[in-house]
Amino acid sequence: MQSPILRQSEAFDVRPIGAAYAAEIAGLNLANPLGDDVFRALYPLFLQHKILVFRDQNFDDDAHSQFARRWGKLQVHVLNQYHKATNPEIIYLSNLDREGKPKGEHPDPGAAIWHTDGSWARERALATMLYGMVLPKSGGDTLFADMVAAYDALSASMQQKLESLVAVHSLDYSRSQTGAKQQMTEAQKRAAPPVEHAVIRVHPDTERKAIYLGQHASHIVGMAVDAGRALIREINEHATQPQFIYVHRWQPRDFVMWDNRQVMHKATDFDWINDVRTMRRTTTVGEKIQEA
Ligand code: OGA
Ligand code: MN
Repeated sequence: MQSPILRQSEAFDVRPIGAAYAAEIAGLNLANPLGDDVFRALYPLFLQHKILVFRDQNFDDDAHSQFARRWGKLQVHVLNQYHKATNPEIIYLSNLDREGKPKGEHPDPGAAIWHTDGSWARERALATMLYGMVLPKSGGDTLFADMVAAYDALSASMQQKLESLVAVHSLDYSRSQTGAKQQMTEAQKRAAPPVEHAVIRVHPDTERKAIYLGQHASHIVGMAVDAGRALIREINEHATQPQFIYVHRWQPRDFVMWDNRQVMHKATDFDWINDVRTMRRTTTVGEKIQEA
């Protein structure tokens, strides 16, 4: 299906790559400042396809964060051990230590469990932008699941039940579940206390409803903790069935951005003892992108 949006800009091509969503944008060099016309053409594509993939990008940290800033305010992640020293808006996800040797640890075990970024925060993540710097020989894919399609596929009675529910999201809770070696410090816990978000999220631009849960969802307000957890598990399982999934198999220098209001994601395993995976990440926060 060709949408009229595709004809608005002659500067690049749009190629759907997933069975139901996700598109590749060809012909843009993201190291160049993003012009308003291109931004205005990309934004509806981001909403429509939920995931945009730009291949073979060659840009440094500054160009990456400059591109990201065009899409909104950047997150300074509460887990400050992941920050780049000179720019806390940039995160390096890597299994290498400072000397460039594998440190014998997964870079972030939590990334291997379905989640939507920053749902543990009041000011939650909107777009995550990930750049594949060094990729392992096998594994280390990123899986996405479409939360709009997953919502649509719920029974009417389940949709109705979830409509009025609010979940408590907590990074401390999810990290305690994933066996992350580094648990949160007291200061980090104070900076990121549990927050409440509606289980069904209405997208401010598309007005479509989406399931908004994932691993940071700890329990449901007003329900017994066990019963709430069982419901969260059931809905997370429903939402991550194969028909909702797009698998991103990384090529070197891929730049991928996704809409956390519409998809969940997780990373697949790789040989983090011997192989290398280094990703550079920026994340915008807020409910809606301001089309300045
Ligand atoms: C993240 C994340 C997935 C990956 O950075 O938030 O979940 O494939 N990453 O590294
Ligand atoms: Mn993530």
